Amino acid sequence: MAKSIDSAQPVIALLGGGQLGRMFIENALRYDARIHVLDPDPLAPCSSIASQFTIGDFRDRETVFHFAADADVVGIEIEQVNVEALQDLKRLGKRVIPDPDVLRIIQDKGLQKRFYADHGIPSSSFALLQSGRDLTDHVHLLPAFLKTRTGGYDGKGVMAVDSIADAQRAFEAPCVLEERADIAMELAVIVARAANGTMVTYDPVEMVFDPRFNLVDHLRAPARIPHPVNEAAQRLAKRVAEAFGHPGLYSVEMFLTTENELLVNETAPRAHNSGHHTIEACASSQFDQLLRLYMNWPLGDSGLRGLAAMINLVGEGGSGAPVVKGVDDVLHLPGSFLHLYGKHETRAGRKMGHVAVIAQNQDELDQAIAVTKVHCKVEPRE
Ligand SMILES: Nc1ncnc2c1ncn2[C@@H]1O[C@H](COP(=O)(O)OP(=O)(O)OP(=O)(O)O)[C@@H](O)[C@H]1O
Ligand SMILES: [Mg+2]
Repeated sequence: MAKSIDSAQPVIALLGGGQLGRMFIENALRYDARIHVLDPDPLAPCSSIASQFTIGDFRDRETVFHFAADADVVGIEIEQVNVEALQDLKRLGKRVIPDPDVLRIIQDKGLQKRFYADHGIPSSSFALLQSGRDLTDHVHLLPAFLKTRTGGYDGKGVMAVDSIADAQRAFEAPCVLEERADIAMELAVIVARAANGTMVTYDPVEMVFDPRFNLVDHLRAPARIPHPVNEAAQRLAKRVAEAFGHPGLYSVEMFLTTENELLVNETAPRAHNSGHHTIEACASSQFDQLLRLYMNWPLGDSGLRGLAAMINLVGEGGSGAPVVKGVDDVLHLPGSFLHLYGKHETRAGRKMGHVAVIAQNQDELDQAIAVTKVHCKVEPRE
């Protein structure tokens, strides 16, 4: 039977009200969708544009359950939410994306690594430690990366370990110790998997990290890799989504090693920083794809319309009310799109916005990345 859009649209309850939620809502409003948002911060980026905004803790079971009790669909824009509440809501018959079982695995970097090993998905060798200090028992994995199993984000809770001497400053918490990959390029592939098993992938993006903050500085799409590697990365992302076995949007971070091997680093079961360029560069963005998943609509066209780049605008200097400098320079660039997340306070390392660029050739893209990085700054008001 043909589907129609009902005037009484389903309610989508979203846990988390940050920039990912805001960009999701920006697109969802085109379809007149109703999005209710839960976030502890009354000034969160979604607070001014959600159909309904509830102030509350998405880590608290009761709060989440009550918040989403009237919704038809429950989604997340941050992983650190209460999974038991999502189980309860699923039992009530709500469509919960990502599935609580998937989220439980992904929330714990240890379970996630074991999941890849169990499903034959290539990922670096690892050991699970009761405390990071125990890394002295696993010298064969050095040089390595030590990661707290839970609670880390944007590179926090991750440290490079060169020798056993580093054990002294290691996290005193359950950790994963991972062999260090010899990285030629960091890639990410977003895949949408519908309830009927259909999958759509985006082209791999090439991510360049800012070592100061351990987060993405900028990315390019498609990644400058040979065609067979591009295809292999998309196939690998599909294998990951297939292994999780539930509908959802999966952002698969990978390492392309100097040996030309693809290793999965980690997966986010949600929209991701590595897909922001898709808003302008693709007919159906990652946010559009997510809405289609929530609504059980057909998946959209993920093809790139040109070469694209995305440059994060990250707070520099101290904290305070933000001032965005160099807006004119960015807006002068052909094919540029400025996104500001509406955060009321900037801090060093806080994602405040981004610039997306679509260009005809790599030189134009280089130029736009350089201009944005030199001129566009978010700083606290003096
Ligand atoms: N095994 C590894 N070998 C080499 N580099 C690694 C390894 N694990 C992590 N890294 C480096 O550290 C970065 C952060 O690691 P990871 O993605 O696991 O942390 P995170 O806290 O989830 O970060 P984010 O939230 O920004 O994705 C990676 O992007 C990569 O640059
Ligand atoms: Mg990561």
